[in-house]
Amino acid sequence: MAFTPRGRGGDRGGGGFRGGSRGGFGGDRGGRGGSRGGSRGGFGGDRGGRGGARGGRGAPRGGGRGDRGGRGGARGGRGGFGAKGGQRVVIEPHRHPGVFVARGKEDLLVTKNLTPGEAVYGEKRISIDTPAPVSGDAATNGDSAPLATKTEYRVWNPFRSKLAAGILGGLEDIHMKPGSKVLYLGAASGTSVSHVADIVGPTGTVFAVEFSHRSGRDLINMATHRTNVIPIIEDARHPLKYRMLVSMVDCIFADVAQPDQARIVGLNAHQFLKVGGGVVVSIKANCIHSTAPPEQVFAREVGKLREERIKPKEQLTLEPFERDHAMVVGVYQRSG
Ligand SMILES: C[S@@+](CC[C@H](N)C(=O)[O-])C[C@H]1O[C@@H](n2cnc3c(N)ncnc32)[C@H](O)[C@@H]1O
Repeated sequence: MAFTPRGRGGDRGGGGFRGGSRGGFGGDRGGRGGSRGGSRGGFGGDRGGRGGARGGRGAPRGGGRGDRGGRGGARGGRGGFGAKGGQRVVIEPHRHPGVFVARGKEDLLVTKNLTPGEAVYGEKRISIDTPAPVSGDAATNGDSAPLATKTEYRVWNPFRSKLAAGILGGLEDIHMKPGSKVLYLGAASGTSVSHVADIVGPTGTVFAVEFSHRSGRDLINMATHRTNVIPIIEDARHPLKYRMLVSMVDCIFADVAQPDQARIVGLNAHQFLKVGGGVVVSIKANCIHSTAPPEQVFAREVGKLREERIKPKEQLTLEPFERDHAMVVGVYQRSG
């Protein structure tokens, strides 16, 4: 299948982010919203026009400034990130299992908080009342009725997470869902990792590799509350050093922002990734080459991934959330 990347920016087909004039997902780094999502390149060339200008795939419509959330909004939530006091927010599943959309005045990408009551990095939380199931028995035999419960969601800001930006950009497949095992390379202090931990849930595992001890401290701290995260403070160039800690995984997510990222992904894939498993790689063009045009850099990186037996399936740029970044998703193939 031919690789047919489409130009950066301005391509509205299938972006799925409905920022537009509503101001985009301002969050705490606001001000860059306003355009309609990343442009995507197909590896099959048949994806044109999907979703159109408004996406229609459960993507948030943009959020305005992040900190307007009124106390008591979102049906008793804690601020509800853009949901004004008393405003009703409805949670809907996103088409990627484990990811949700909070629909209110502004739509927001959210994940279900694995540790209700706790934020990881100051992100907003939205608490939703889940009505008690109506039990015929309780109604007829006089038992006390089951209590309503609350479910808490954490707002996932695409300006702070490339994976969130990729999801809003319309990624077809993120290769992670509840129960998945994910090897996350370039975990930093664990902000995005915490959302991946929410997605895979208590039956999944995130092996989070970070070589900076400074960031690693926050990562380890986060993992003490989220027991499905295994923090690994090592250089991802040396997977043998952590082979005792990592099982075979369904997906490798990589965001190490290094010139040899494709090789690092390959080394880890050959060691830990199931055949048919997914690879999701964020590529920052100027980390690979400071002067080459980004499209050229992305194309070369895709070529390097192919050499590592990773068959590219989709590519999209992360605008408007990140400039000169691409997300490439591929599938690991059997050798020979
Ligand atoms: C762009 S940041 C990752 C941000 C993170 N994915 C997030 O969304 O919060 C890149 C991280 O990769 C780490 N890193 C770079 N090279 C690495 C390597 N060889 N092994 C492990 N971590 C590495 C850096 O220390 C840095 O924290």
